[in-house]
Amino acid sequence: MDGNGRWAKKRLLPRIAGHRAGAEAVRRTIRAAGELGIQALTLYAFSSENWRRPASEIADLMGLLRLYLRNEMAELEREGARLHFIGNWREFDADIVALLEEAAARTASNGRIDVAIALNYGAQDELVRAVRQLAGEARDGLVDPAAIDPAMIEARLDTHALPPLDLMIRTSGEERLSNFLLWQAAYAELLFVDTLWPDFDRDALAAAVAAFGRRERRYGGR
Ligand code: IPE
Ligand code: MG
Repeated sequence: MDGNGRWAKKRLLPRIAGHRAGAEAVRRTIRAAGELGIQALTLYAFSSENWRRPASEIADLMGLLRLYLRNEMAELEREGARLHFIGNWREFDADIVALLEEAAARTASNGRIDVAIALNYGAQDELVRAVRQLAGEARDGLVDPAAIDPAMIEARLDTHALPPLDLMIRTSGEERLSNFLLWQAAYAELLFVDTLWPDFDRDALAAAVAAFGRRERRYGGR
């Protein structure tokens, strides 16, 4: 979800206004995804590299996350969204961790759409944690190193409860993955759009799904 800052700058507004508009785009996009019959949606909200931003912007983003978690739960429940959080979100402030735990527990039995929010997430960090876990299991004699296969790695990734990744959309004209779902993107279709994240809406998502439908997926076969 990139482009909040540029969206605000274009309007001569402070960056936080762009992040606020970005939160509205999150609400719109989750609703649209449910309506379009999408099974799972993962949103990259805060990366493990975003800590490099000024403290005041980080505080604004955390404030917005608190607000979102307090205000959106009823709507997410109505939409049948089951929330997941990926990344090292347990390192956030204790009150946010409590809100995240509560949000996941409260929506655990919903089944219309899985919504994963990446918080303090980095794909390399996710892989490092999975490798550490496997190495520990091997050391303890629980896993035979020679038997380690992709499924065993996948089972230890933060996304283990989610279906395979089909389509990755990057907004705001940037053409890189920025440490998002690197393992999971192995055979995903990639779509780079110029739309700034705060402008993303149902039409943008529908267009992305239509573009995905026109792709021919061969998974390395001819
Ligand atoms: C993405 O928008 C939002 C977060 C990383 C939380 P940016 O803040 O990166 O917006 P630009 O790239 O400055 O436009
Ligand atoms: Mg950016």
